[in-house]
Amino acid sequence: MFCVVPPSHFLIGREYPCGAAPVIMTSQAAEMLLSKAITLRRATQRYDSQPVLDDDLRKILTAGLEAPSGFNLQPWRFIVVRDPGQRKLLGQASMGQAKVEEAPVVIVACGDTKGWCNGDLEEMLQLAAVHGYGGPEEHESARRNIKKFLGGVPGALGGIGPDLAVWVNRHVMIALTTMMWMAEVLGYDTAPMEAFWEDKVKELLKIPHSVRVVALLAIGRAKGPDKAYAGRFPMSSLIFGEEWGRPIQFERE
Ligand SMILES: Cc1cc2nc3c(=O)[nH]c(=O)nc-3n(C[C@H](O)[C@H](O)[C@H](O)COP(=O)(O)O)c2cc1C
Repeated sequence: MFCVVPPSHFLIGREYPCGAAPVIMTSQAAEMLLSKAITLRRATQRYDSQPVLDDDLRKILTAGLEAPSGFNLQPWRFIVVRDPGQRKLLGQASMGQAKVEEAPVVIVACGDTKGWCNGDLEEMLQLAAVHGYGGPEEHESARRNIKKFLGGVPGALGGIGPDLAVWVNRHVMIALTTMMWMAEVLGYDTAPMEAFWEDKVKELLKIPHSVRVVALLAIGRAKGPDKAYAGRFPMSSLIFGEEWGRPIQFERE
């Protein structure tokens, strides 16, 4: 449930999950805010020394942790790198990207390929029980299915058995992207990154073997003007309707 109301509706004493306070806003206003954040965001290359406030950082991280995940297994892990010395070394492991050293916060987003069989599955089921989500039978069935799904060979089960590196990527990126949007609406600039030597990043940050480094996200304030918008492919070449290659139709073109 989103904390917005459609135009001309009033919100009356509704309780929201996750302790979120209700925000009274029309869906039109919410759409405008989100669209603005989406169109104005750039992958910011240079940062000045302004800090990311702790309260904001907490909001950014909390937002990411509310992201959806398959079976609610939450295989993401994040290392927040703020120490200048550590950022300098991380910058070197990130192919010398200046933004890693400059931005006051760099989030190293990781995926734990073994977390599900090292306690996450049982913790997820306990959480579900605490929140009244499903009963013992459903939990037992989820336990069985998850073990079959994640414990098998990639490509098994009619092709759905996942490669765990791909599986964690899928989840980590949605959580990191959620953090990116929260940072953007809080007024910060951001930069997602894939140019890093994973083995060097793992060694520097003492990341366990079974954990993959998926992406980095720099957060801070841009130094100088934003880089230019580089454009996007047209919808007609990227989005199809009903089947691959068929143009999507709208009621009003
Ligand atoms: C997953 C991912 C990885 C990226 N890795 C890098 C990177 O390592 N270094 C970099 O300068 N930009 C990186 N980018 C930024 C892209 O180059 C940028 O998003 C793209 O050129 C479009 O520009 P815009 O985001 O400003 O619209 C990455 C973006 C994504 C989504």
